[in-house]
Amino acid sequence: MALTATLIPGDGIGPGITAATIRILEAAGAPFEWDQQLAGVSATEHGLDPLPAATLESIESRRIALKGPLTTPIGSGFRSINVALRKHFDLYANVRPAKTILPDARYPGLDLVIVRENTEGLYAGIEHFIGMDKDPKAVAESVMLITRYGSDRIVRFAFEYALQHGRERVTLVHKANILKCTQGLFLEVGRHVAEEYADRIDYDERIVDATAMQLVLDPYQFDVIVTENMFGDILSDEVAGLIGGLGFAPGANLGTDAAIFEAVHGSAPDIAGLGIANPSSLLLAAGLMLDHMGERVLADRVRTALSETLHEGSVLTGDLGGDASTEEFASAVIERL
Ligand code: NAI
Repeated sequence: MALTATLIPGDGIGPGITAATIRILEAAGAPFEWDQQLAGVSATEHGLDPLPAATLESIESRRIALKGPLTTPIGSGFRSINVALRKHFDLYANVRPAKTILPDARYPGLDLVIVRENTEGLYAGIEHFIGMDKDPKAVAESVMLITRYGSDRIVRFAFEYALQHGRERVTLVHKANILKCTQGLFLEVGRHVAEEYADRIDYDERIVDATAMQLVLDPYQFDVIVTENMFGDILSDEVAGLIGGLGFAPGANLGTDAAIFEAVHGSAPDIAGLGIANPSSLLLAAGLMLDHMGERVLADRVRTALSETLHEGSVLTGDLGGDASTEEFASAVIERL
């Protein structure tokens, strides 16, 4: 039976790594019917809104999308389309698995997951300047929004994720020692939810700064980490670094009505159009999408072929020290399927 999903190739290197990913999925026998849509700069270049209504409608009806990176203009121009998509579909959970796939990795066999709250905290964007005397920007103020509802659903999501994926422990990461109201509420709600799962999933708590250090000293002690928006943003890039960089980190943005899977790196304008980008992150995101759709066998097939290609090491893109093009790398993965 065909799997239906929206496909947003994205900007910069997006179309190139998307084409490579689709070719690999087809060769793996993943029966996708894609509805291709535009967003970001590639949409504005076609005279469309950066987040066209047709793209939103496509995701609304298919409920699943695979998305290449989207360029966000700096300083002026439209606001982040990634953030707009998260808000529009209330994609409250950002899931970033970090699993070692590269040979000679610093942390062999590492396998942990960060579950980040995606809609609240400082990133809710409630901020303003306060003018004083002749300085209109004398003070800048930002609100860290934490709700009982938002905390409950993200911690609950982390426990459910742990149960569904055979994980053993959830670690709640916070800064309640300093931010007693906001972080204190997140911790209080988290403890409450953890009690409901006490007989099935272990639970512990860490302060965010200590977690950042422990992740470098001994990341193996972690299994599933759940945390608020900004801490999750920072820690998920840190764990991507532990497994060899953003090029091997896929991300899933999940809500109750839609799910968007993406490469977590950007549109790489410095190498756009050269055909040399590494498609691994988007391919791993497609693997998460297949898992989400219940196609675990297909997903594992793709991940194994990617892992074997990297371990064999003769066909690698420039970021990995090789000189293969995106398409040559994709062909090497296909040979190993
Ligand atoms: P970037 O991730 O695009 O690039 C950083 C460096 O990594 C560059 O040297 C680039 O060539 C390299 N790189 C990234 N992906 C690569 C790949 N697949 N293969 C080989 N090399 C790769 O980050 P940057 O330059 O800060 O952002 C560029 C644009 O991307 C910005 O407009 C930013 O807003 C956007 N962006 C979009 C994201 C998304 O759509 N999820 C996430 C991060 C950034």
